[in-house]
Amino acid sequence: MANVIVLGAQWGDEGKGKVVDLLTPAFDIVARYQGGHNAGHTVYLEGRKIVLHLIPSGILHPGKLCLIGNGVAFDPLAFLEEASQLEAHGSLLGDRLVISRSAHLILPYHPLVERISEERKGKMMIGTTNRGIGPSYEDKAARTGIRVGDLGDLDVFREKLEANVAEKNAILRQAGIEPLVASAIYEKYADLASRIIRYVGDVSFILNERIRSGSAVLFEGAQGALLDLDHGTYPYVTSSSSTAGGACTGLGIGPTKIQAVLGVAKAYTTRVGSGPFPTEISGEKGKLILERGNEFGATTGRPRRCGWFDAVAVAYACRLNGSDKIVLTKPDILDVFPEIPVCLGYMYKGEILRSFPPEPYILDKVTPQYRTMKGWQTPIHRTTDSRTLPVAFRDYIRLLEDSIEAKVAIISTGVGRKDSLLIDEELEGIVDIGKIRAGLG
Ligand code: IMP
Ligand code: MG
Repeated sequence: MANVIVLGAQWGDEGKGKVVDLLTPAFDIVARYQGGHNAGHTVYLEGRKIVLHLIPSGILHPGKLCLIGNGVAFDPLAFLEEASQLEAHGSLLGDRLVISRSAHLILPYHPLVERISEERKGKMMIGTTNRGIGPSYEDKAARTGIRVGDLGDLDVFREKLEANVAEKNAILRQAGIEPLVASAIYEKYADLASRIIRYVGDVSFILNERIRSGSAVLFEGAQGALLDLDHGTYPYVTSSSSTAGGACTGLGIGPTKIQAVLGVAKAYTTRVGSGPFPTEISGEKGKLILERGNEFGATTGRPRRCGWFDAVAVAYACRLNGSDKIVLTKPDILDVFPEIPVCLGYMYKGEILRSFPPEPYILDKVTPQYRTMKGWQTPIHRTTDSRTLPVAFRDYIRLLEDSIEAKVAIISTGVGRKDSLLIDEELEGIVDIGKIRAGLG
């Protein structure tokens, strides 16, 4: 049985939550490997909207084991809030969730120093989600961070916390912000620890044992390839490895345990936060996509910037991830457009670039080379039968496939699990299609 990574092939918000929810019936385990509650995975279940930030969306399926890997930045408060929301929906965590003891904690000083750092950047600000994600990873790399497992020994936790609070207070004081009181944070987090510690374990060990005994694993990425710390549009990126390699380091498994990578891409492009965006549309058409696609951040509620499909960017994402199959989401949002441009190349200093340049100062100066496709202007919303797809839509798909050098394996035509068109020959050998169809009821 194949173990598969599902990740974003653009700047996040491609609809991974729905895709993971759709595919979960074919897997035994769903594992998160990076990011934190900056992510927002929206799933519609029997008409109810559920937004998950930290807990893998596999939790909505009874009997599936969910893992939060060491690569995740873990906020105990966000976690407990999400757990109680899930319980209210009838999804109990029970013993179905394990948090890696090596995941780094997000503590109250992290969002504060993040705000100071963003303000200091002025117009160079990244436009982060202000969840403390970046500063938590900074502490990890500085080797001063506090990990989830440290909550298991409160003396250790207190000592590390005191050192960190002293250090952060210097930054807060300099910015004119009231310093924090370590003992108060300690009291609060010692209490949180007592509610979290039962979920904490050795995720790498459990995962490898389960793979050995035949479990199939779905690795759930957060954000998108173009927000990857190394390969994204640095510095306008998140602070973790959102590309496929992150699954290995973020969970403690070897690459030999992963058989396929499914990129998820929207039929157009969105980006939230600052940074370069060559195919961004200003004006009415962009607004129409924003409204039809309901493109507002699931975590921060910010309106997303909208643009045409950028095949240069998605081809780059597929290359970074070794992904030759993609899931295409939200093409139905384009149903009303008489013409749909697709960016097939970048012109820079009079030449066509051979590949995506991640540098913002280059991306800001490229001229997208578009091919304008005829719109299908027929509602494909909620279509599940490939035989009824309009010819113009098939042409659009073929152009995307050719230009990104990857095949479309699933088309999502609506928010519900059922609004999905599975292309059997592309899914063969990657997932158990029978189980996915059974999950559709
Ligand atoms: P951070 O991850 O909060 O540090 O934010 C860094 C950049 O990543 C900002 O541009 C955010 O808007 C963006 N970002 C972080 N998480 C997501 C996500 O889940 N979807 C889309 N963009 C995100
Ligand atoms: Mg999102």
